[in-house]
Amino acid sequence: MTFHIGAKPGEIAETVLLPGDPYRARWAAQTFLKDAVLVNEVRGMLGYTGTWKGERVTIQGSGMGMPSLSIYVNELIKDYGAQTLIRIGSAGGMQEHVKVRDVVLAQTASTLGSPSRGIFRELNFAPCADFGLLQAAWKAAQGRVDCHVGGIYSNDTFYEEREDLGAQLMRHGVLCVEMEAAELYTLAARYGRRALAILTISDHLITNEALPAGERERSFGDMVEIALEAAFS
Ligand code: ADE
Repeated sequence: MTFHIGAKPGEIAETVLLPGDPYRARWAAQTFLKDAVLVNEVRGMLGYTGTWKGERVTIQGSGMGMPSLSIYVNELIKDYGAQTLIRIGSAGGMQEHVKVRDVVLAQTASTLGSPSRGIFRELNFAPCADFGLLQAAWKAAQGRVDCHVGGIYSNDTFYEEREDLGAQLMRHGVLCVEMEAAELYTLAARYGRRALAILTISDHLITNEALPAGERERSFGDMVEIALEAAFS
């Protein structure tokens, strides 16, 4: 047990999928895993371990924002030995060609300030995805969804007041905005683990379009399948 995860030693798999929403963790575990067992419910942040095609997998909610994800990922890596960590979440589109329903594989994630900011001080560290996972996820996405690979932005505020920042990011080709990947990639780099963020565009900062609630489950399911195939390819 750790401060935030109630699982016993050995109850967390080496491969962990990380949706922000704990109910999504439950849905994904019940839908895609065999013999899924609840291994964490501390603070309602549900985590399940089961198998997919015979491989052990944990699906653990990470909460919203980098401070929350940092807590779970630190404990998953340092206390439970997680080796492969794949975020599956939603993002706001920031380029015309990146449309609602499309999937983005985050090659790198820029941020204004993550929980790791204090380590780097004046240095602009460039957090990046594991190349093997990125390549495998790209392959798994083909024929399933329209998929883009590139830089994304990890913001710590959903209700952003700085319009100039968004405009500069768009100008520099950033594909979408979400709230967790930069810290996930930084922690994976620090501890020598594999990480990737797979994101469905759920809303759009240019067109203001949003994915209807009824369609969210289907696109979330696509991401889970892409993540599982990438993790074990
Ligand atoms: N996740 C989904 N849409 C988002 C947005 N517009 N900003 C930040 N995170 C998001």
